[in-house]
Amino acid sequence: MAGSAAADTLRENVLRQAALDAGLVPAEETHVPVPPDLVAAGKLLFQTKKLSLERETACASCHLDRFGSADGLPNAIGTEGRGEGVARLMGGGDIIPRNALPFWGRGSKGFEIFFWDGRVDARGEAMISQFAGEEPSDDPLVVAVHLPPVELGEMLLNSAGSETLQSETVASANQIYDQLAQRLRDDLEIGPALAKAHTIDPSQIRFIDVAEALAGFIRHNFRLKPTRFHEFVFAERDLSEDEIEGGLIFYGRGRCATCHNGAYFTDFAFHTIPFPQAGFGKNGFGIDYGRYNVTLDVDDLYRFRTPPLFNVTKTAPYSHSGSLYELSEAIRAHVDPLARSENVPTDAHQRADFYQVLKQWSHTPVAGLALDDRDIEQLVVFLGSLEFDSDQPVDETE
Ligand code: HEC
Ligand code: HEC
Repeated sequence: MAGSAAADTLRENVLRQAALDAGLVPAEETHVPVPPDLVAAGKLLFQTKKLSLERETACASCHLDRFGSADGLPNAIGTEGRGEGVARLMGGGDIIPRNALPFWGRGSKGFEIFFWDGRVDARGEAMISQFAGEEPSDDPLVVAVHLPPVELGEMLLNSAGSETLQSETVASANQIYDQLAQRLRDDLEIGPALAKAHTIDPSQIRFIDVAEALAGFIRHNFRLKPTRFHEFVFAERDLSEDEIEGGLIFYGRGRCATCHNGAYFTDFAFHTIPFPQAGFGKNGFGIDYGRYNVTLDVDDLYRFRTPPLFNVTKTAPYSHSGSLYELSEAIRAHVDPLARSENVPTDAHQRADFYQVLKQWSHTPVAGLALDDRDIEQLVVFLGSLEFDSDQPVDETE
């Protein structure tokens, strides 16, 4: 029974073994080294508004320390936008807000698929991305950081320049990259820092050099550090009674680790969890088709990449649509989406959509699992053991 020292040790060892079986590795084993000069140039780039054509937005505008490198908002972006090429791949509909993703572990070993719908994916032989064969790099994080500056509504205003710039083709993206590279080349601080990082003359700076520095900064600054849970598993440190209980639920009857597993607490696969769809939705009218937008496979409707869970206590609100503010609500939505009547859409079309979501969800191992409030509270406490800080603070732009 609880209370006996032998039973406590047994429970701890069961939890340690479960974490190892689910693929947890020491934080250091995930690291990919990045040259310090590249990190330094990347940090300047990350914080500058010059990376947006209209000088309005910096990466740091939406990826803030204060919010665990996300933005604390349900939806980050906010405009429409439709065209050929890139937009076609998005499966039609308006390009519209999603919840900002944080950066923990991004681009470290084995982390090579990006965004909620996995639209940059280097897991297979050929990379999949909106560049459709014209990828600027074989490093998927370098490809991923190419997207924000040319995504309408994200860093590119809809009113930006000419029709060509708004067409969202690779050619129009390249025009924007050239303009940005030229601007950064001429910047008295960033130009020399980038030139030094790449050992080139400032006049030679191209956008690929910019993107490599940004990726280097993200990869280094947000790399995993040993969390209290790592220390528990790999260095025999203690966790609290509630953390252990929550951990046992996570790996045990909560079945969380069937999807949230591996070094980053994600299987890098796509599943449907019936989170309420707040906001307009990427596909319009309160709908976001998720992975389907990339694969156009109806089996992928409403599926999203399993989010990693490091620092998840800091990145409210939750889900691809940012519809839930409390971690406990995010967990409850996995097992019992109707627990809150507010989660049920009021519009008949959206309800029809919600039934489709429930149909997909019904095949997941969490569908209809009974977790009571205390179980969920303990899961929240457990997730708190996955916190750590970024290497250097990111300055917020004014
Ligand atoms: C307007 C807010 C906003 C700005 C500005 C912004 N981002 Fe993001 N970022 C987001 C949102 C929202 C997502 C999730 C989008 C999605 O998955 O569809 C995201 C996702 C990402 C991801 C994918 C992370 C993952 O887990 O796969 C990377 C990488 C990224 N952003 C890098 C950048 C960089 C680099 C910049 C600056 C060049 C930048 N972002 C600027 C809002 C923003
Ligand atoms: C079937 C796979 C699967 C299982 C099992 C699962 N999750 Fe998830 N989880 C996901 C996916 C996919 C999302 C994102 C869905 C979305 O945004 O639409 C998610 C989102 C989350 C989020 C929100 C993260 C964020 O950044 O927005 C938390 C927290 C979470 N899961 C915790 C848990 C816990 C705790 C359990 C066990 C009770 C669990 N999950 C079980 C797949 C799963």
